[in-house]
Amino acid sequence: MSLRLARHPRLYSLAQKIVSANYRAVRRAIRRELALAPGQRVVDLGCGTGNLADLFPQAQYVGVDTNPAYIRFARKATRRSYAVMDVAHLGLADNTFDAAVAIGLNHHLDDETLKQFARQVRRVCKPATRAVMIDIIPPRPLNFLEHARQRWAERGRYVRPPEEYRHLLATHLTVERMYPLRWGFLEYSVIVLRVEKG
Ligand SMILES: C[S@@+](CC[C@H](N)C(=O)[O-])C[C@H]1O[C@@H](n2cnc3c(N)ncnc32)[C@H](O)[C@@H]1O
Repeated sequence: MSLRLARHPRLYSLAQKIVSANYRAVRRAIRRELALAPGQRVVDLGCGTGNLADLFPQAQYVGVDTNPAYIRFARKATRRSYAVMDVAHLGLADNTFDAAVAIGLNHHLDDETLKQFARQVRRVCKPATRAVMIDIIPPRPLNFLEHARQRWAERGRYVRPPEEYRHLLATHLTVERMYPLRWGFLEYSVIVLRVEKG
């Protein structure tokens, strides 16, 4: 998202929904990978304006993001629980969550921060739970629209090939599977991770 647009949570939220067709492909992938029972706890890491909170109507949802304006907007818009927090230093108790999601977050994190983030996910999630991470990847050469979108509309500086995301996350989490996800010209990678504690 362009810097100017990103400063206005309402516009930013709307633009994100429009570009992703209200996250249709992302929602489908999360529903496929996470089956939460009513009352179970899910944490949305880098939740932005809370656009995906409605995916978990019966769960105890907590969204975290470093941007206080997004969190203020998300609280008003969705009436769910949110906190301003850095994903590399989560102020959340150990073994709290039954699932974690991170959508469009990892390309904002440098290598060390991404590893630290993976460590935090492992810490705050219960053993044998799942984390689903979906992020943009370098587009195929002829996908000019996505090249242009990433160049002009993305603020994250660490768009990586799927294998690189996988390698960094695998320092603290077990990779169950990874696959490409496409919606129109948007190209994502889905990484499904398992939390294992010895
Ligand atoms: C591309 S947006 C995605 C937002 C949301 N997940 C969605 O799909 O609509 C990335 C978000 O990650 C947040 N973010 C970036 N670095 C972060 C960090 N270290 N800790 C927490 N949030 C972070 C940004 O503020 C931004 O809201």
